[in-house]
Amino acid sequence: MCGIVGYIGQQAAVEIVLDGLRRLEYRGYDSAGIATLSEGQLCTSRAEGKLSNLEKRLKTAPLSGSLGIGHTRWATHGKPSEANAHPHQAGGFVVVHNGIIENYLQLKQRLTGEGHTFKSETDSEIIAHLIEQHHRQCHDFVTAVRYALAELRGAFAIAVICKDHPDQLIAAKAGSPLVIGQGEGEYFVASDIPAMLSHTREMIFLNDGEMVVFSHAKMVVTTLDGQAVKKQSKHITWNPMMAEKGGYRHFMLKEIHEQPRAIADTIAGRINEDKNAVLLHDLNLDDDFLTSIDRLYIVACGTSWHAGLVGKFLIEKLARLSVEVDIASEFRYRQPLVNEKTLTLVISQSGETADTLAALREAHERGGKVISICNVVESSIARESEGVIYTHAGPEIGVASTKAFTTQLVALFLFALHLSRVRQTMSNEALQEQIQALLTLPRKLEETLELDQQIEAAARQFIHVQDFLYLGRGNQYPIALEGALKLKEISYIHAEGYPAGEMKHGPIALIDENLPVVVVVPQNDTYEKVISNLEEVRARGGQILAVSDSRCNDLAAASDVIFHVPSIIDELMPVITSIPLQLLSYHIAVFKGTDVDQPRNLAKSVTVE
Ligand code: AGP
Repeated sequence: MCGIVGYIGQQAAVEIVLDGLRRLEYRGYDSAGIATLSEGQLCTSRAEGKLSNLEKRLKTAPLSGSLGIGHTRWATHGKPSEANAHPHQAGGFVVVHNGIIENYLQLKQRLTGEGHTFKSETDSEIIAHLIEQHHRQCHDFVTAVRYALAELRGAFAIAVICKDHPDQLIAAKAGSPLVIGQGEGEYFVASDIPAMLSHTREMIFLNDGEMVVFSHAKMVVTTLDGQAVKKQSKHITWNPMMAEKGGYRHFMLKEIHEQPRAIADTIAGRINEDKNAVLLHDLNLDDDFLTSIDRLYIVACGTSWHAGLVGKFLIEKLARLSVEVDIASEFRYRQPLVNEKTLTLVISQSGETADTLAALREAHERGGKVISICNVVESSIARESEGVIYTHAGPEIGVASTKAFTTQLVALFLFALHLSRVRQTMSNEALQEQIQALLTLPRKLEETLELDQQIEAAARQFIHVQDFLYLGRGNQYPIALEGALKLKEISYIHAEGYPAGEMKHGPIALIDENLPVVVVVPQNDTYEKVISNLEEVRARGGQILAVSDSRCNDLAAASDVIFHVPSIIDELMPVITSIPLQLLSYHIAVFKGTDVDQPRNLAKSVTVE
């Protein structure tokens, strides 16, 4: 994971790099460091822990220079410590790295034999030493970097500066994200767009196996073996304010409250009411192929996988196509049955999750077509898919996914409607009804968010609880899983999600007065069955928090607390019921005093397998 930033231009590099790292801290926050080059002097500052520790250090010992690189770390090789913090230096070369070098032990052994001494336990430090080693032989900065990178196996995005080249910054990418920002006589490079948004919205996206050499006036992109590559910049519509907290205490709370707007953006321009059709411009799959698909896999990780589970309900119900949902890290190792009639739909907020990217490549290698649902425009997954449905949620900074999840649900709904029209599995009237319901969704989400205070008041009593059970049935079962994941991630309370009907086959043994049970129970076909499950919990002293659109007495009698949500068609109900569960985990975490936006051990974008 980790975040890297680089700057070359006329301004003071430290502030720009620090600002970029602040916006990349979601990628890792075990340590941070920065290096600048000023008047022929390389200066480095590093600190264990969050970026604020590095900032304190820089206040007492400032760095100057208009060329700099920085790093915020999520530890893989070597514990979080100052010694393991990037940048790493060997001779006059300083490197920041995101990724994993798989052959680092062999390289380290060889380099040690050649007289190099290592100061850290990281795989990354070998890159600086390799560059130095090659420089001894070829005396050319660019060639030395190229030769060094050719020896690496694994994934990397790097930025490197050299004491003897005050006008050059080199960056390269193979398997880890890296984006270039183009300003007026200045360049930025970073792991993700928000790190550069306050300086430029002109971005250039590097492909794997590409390297860029920046000088103050120009940049030259080549392949790693030196072939010239032409690049076009893209104007990014995200604005810098989208990556700010905007008055909210946490990014997560802001992102929860942004959902009506985010979902309106997911829908915008995609409905043609006159033609009763969904328009998915970047899908790039013709109707003949969509009609001929005989197997659909949905593949993703974490929260995106939960969205995929809801997608199965939507696609099977509306488009009558059988769907298998897989966890990405499992998919590629189970020899999936993929042929030219198979469509694999991968879901990823970041578009950079290593397991999901590997699953995508596996599906391609087996001859199948792949489309993706991504939030980050031009991310690796988006670019490697035949087609993409962007969620347009805007940058999601909180490590716990909220608006990315609900916009994924809406993107899946749009895809299911499109498939059903092409495969003629729904009448025009039914399709129209679904589309009309979708258009009411942002307003209903506004209404749902009014529960915030009630949920905050209820949350206070749960801060000492050790375990939670989340129940849901049908398309609400994935919402129970997602509710449990949210609580685990940010409050560190153990929580499990279960299909409500399955409770009596085991988990019921856990129920006593110390186990709160959150149940998602909309007024649908299984409503009465779930109410019976609640009675079983109640009979054993369990405390019940219900999320429902029902005002019936049976629910009131079976529950301790009810969060009443607005009604909508069953297909879209998971979007609405997600909101109270997000707010519940948020408020419990705030009362517990955990670090909501940057929970321990986690990182937003998991770019290691
Ligand atoms: C969600 O709260 C998590 N942070 C995590 O499960 C996440 O959804 C997962 O890592 C997948 O990320 P992606 O959507 O960017 O691929």
